[in-house]
Amino acid sequence: MCGIVAYIGHRQAYPVIVKGLKRLEYRGYDSAGIALVNHGLKLYKKKGKVANLEESTLGQDLEGHIGIGHTRWATHGEPSDRNAHPHRSANGKLAMIHNGIIENYASLKQELIKKGYQFHSDTDTEVLLYFIEDIQKNNSSTLEEALRIALKRVVGAYVIVLIDEDNPDTLIAARKGSPLVIGIGKGEHFLASDASPIIEYTKEVVYVNDYEIAIIKADELILKNLGNERQTPFIQKLDLELAAIEKGGYDHFMLKEIFEQPHTIYDCLRGRLDAAQGTITMSGIQNNMELIKNANRILIIACGTSWHAGLVAEYVIEELCRIPVEVEYASEFRYRNPIIHKGDMIIAISQSGETADTLVAIERAKEQGAVILGIVNVVGSSISRISHAGAYTHAGPEIGVASTKAFTAQLTVLTMVALMIAKERNTISHDRYIHLLNELNEVPEKVKHALENADHIKAVALKYKDVSDALFLGRGYNFPIALEGALKLKEISYIHAEGYPAAEMKHGPIALVDESLPVVFVATKDTYHQKIISNIQEIKARKGKVIAVITEGDETITEMADDVLPIPEADELIAPIISTIPLQLLSYYIGVARGFDVDKPRNLAKSVTVE
Ligand code: AGP
Ligand code: GLU
Repeated sequence: MCGIVAYIGHRQAYPVIVKGLKRLEYRGYDSAGIALVNHGLKLYKKKGKVANLEESTLGQDLEGHIGIGHTRWATHGEPSDRNAHPHRSANGKLAMIHNGIIENYASLKQELIKKGYQFHSDTDTEVLLYFIEDIQKNNSSTLEEALRIALKRVVGAYVIVLIDEDNPDTLIAARKGSPLVIGIGKGEHFLASDASPIIEYTKEVVYVNDYEIAIIKADELILKNLGNERQTPFIQKLDLELAAIEKGGYDHFMLKEIFEQPHTIYDCLRGRLDAAQGTITMSGIQNNMELIKNANRILIIACGTSWHAGLVAEYVIEELCRIPVEVEYASEFRYRNPIIHKGDMIIAISQSGETADTLVAIERAKEQGAVILGIVNVVGSSISRISHAGAYTHAGPEIGVASTKAFTAQLTVLTMVALMIAKERNTISHDRYIHLLNELNEVPEKVKHALENADHIKAVALKYKDVSDALFLGRGYNFPIALEGALKLKEISYIHAEGYPAAEMKHGPIALVDESLPVVFVATKDTYHQKIISNIQEIKARKGKVIAVITEGDETITEMADDVLPIPEADELIAPIISTIPLQLLSYYIGVARGFDVDKPRNLAKSVTVE
């Protein structure tokens, strides 16, 4: 996700675009750039925030009534000046900005290199731009026609905006999978990723649909489909305030990010998992598969929610790959004198890629010869850079301090990694491999279905918003989800909560149980189902309140529990990605009901870069 702003009209474009980009920096701020056309095409771009770009343009000629601007959330190519958008065409006449991922960029790039194109960045965006340019050159077509032809061959998600030195009165934009809003002014048009850069100028907007191309002049907006057929722009009136727009209409970033998960999990799978072909493609893993598949032991190092993802991965990797796995708190690992054997593989999990404990822990391990795989969300972050290889989780910027969409993205990537290793080691049958690929492929839809229970979950949350303690219990793959649910409740509502393996309860924690203590069970249908029913009975026998995350249609637990939070049926190895959803919402609604700032909980930081 990133921020896109473009302008054409009677105003100076530069100030409109810079102000708009600052409004969109919550969507990503790896780098920023602007292209203007005024006596030729001028490009300015800089790593870091928009303020860095502004500083770099001081004293430059920034005149012009047409321009495009971009704040980047890197997916292909680390944050840098050269990878910043806009990108310039080989002939120097076009500039383009892009939000999204071009999945088939590698094959397109090979085709273009064979034709003699020389690339100046590592991005997928530059490949798309050269591809469009090459079509225009070889077909002697207009830019619009070339774009239409190119987009029919592109696989992936995009919003792109093109500016052409030879046609300085026109912007051309296209959209598939990423958002694009066009603001309709008097003799001017505004384009942006959301309405926040537009609302101060006009409340009349058009939301561009997938597969539409917009040809925009100061006083004309034409929409077409990829078949070159005119589409009627549907003009809407903005009724959101600025703050609400940045949160996508949700009350908090945390809620927005919880509801983004069908999309972010799909982005995680996009271009990697092909259920029809029965393949998983992640070059960062593939290129190191010899090392990974022959690892004697896998050490997973992380903190907090990422550590919980590591615990799920322990169960999944041991089950599928038959490689011993140990999960370490980074803060403990780094201060011990850990034993690292040759052939040990380390997986570092981190949303921010900057967590000090995790960073130092893997630096220590690397000094002792371990190979490091990084499972990271922020492209180009420190942990991603010191890892030998890895895979990005593509969850987009996570603004809420409590991790939600990054966690489910971590579980998705880790499950794909485990499946790749198991296939290489022949420790999984072909049928089970294909079954689990299909199960993973269905997760976005099942998460969307789980989110449809939000109102019910809110009603349950309001029943328990004043409790002082809670227990979260689970078994097997769902045990780490119980831990994660407890952490979410602690973080967001400041209620003391503990996660435990359900069977452990009788070894002490059951002493806590009485009618005032809610016990949350992650009790989806799996190998442990009968056992967890016994555990629920033990709680009920002591008058404890039971809230249970269940598989839809589980009448047995529905009968026993005080409240149930249903999720769709899924293979027990995949279910944790979905069973976490109701627990995220439960904590969110309790935290809001208790009047706390759920996006910025007290005492917490989004990235703990201190020891
Ligand atoms: C997540 O809800 C927490 N805010 C926190 O535990 C976080 O998971 C931990 O600090 C690790 O952060 P990282 O994933 O960026 O390394
Ligand atoms: N995939 C493009 C890149 O990595 C665009 C990323 C974005 O949406 O900012 O540059």
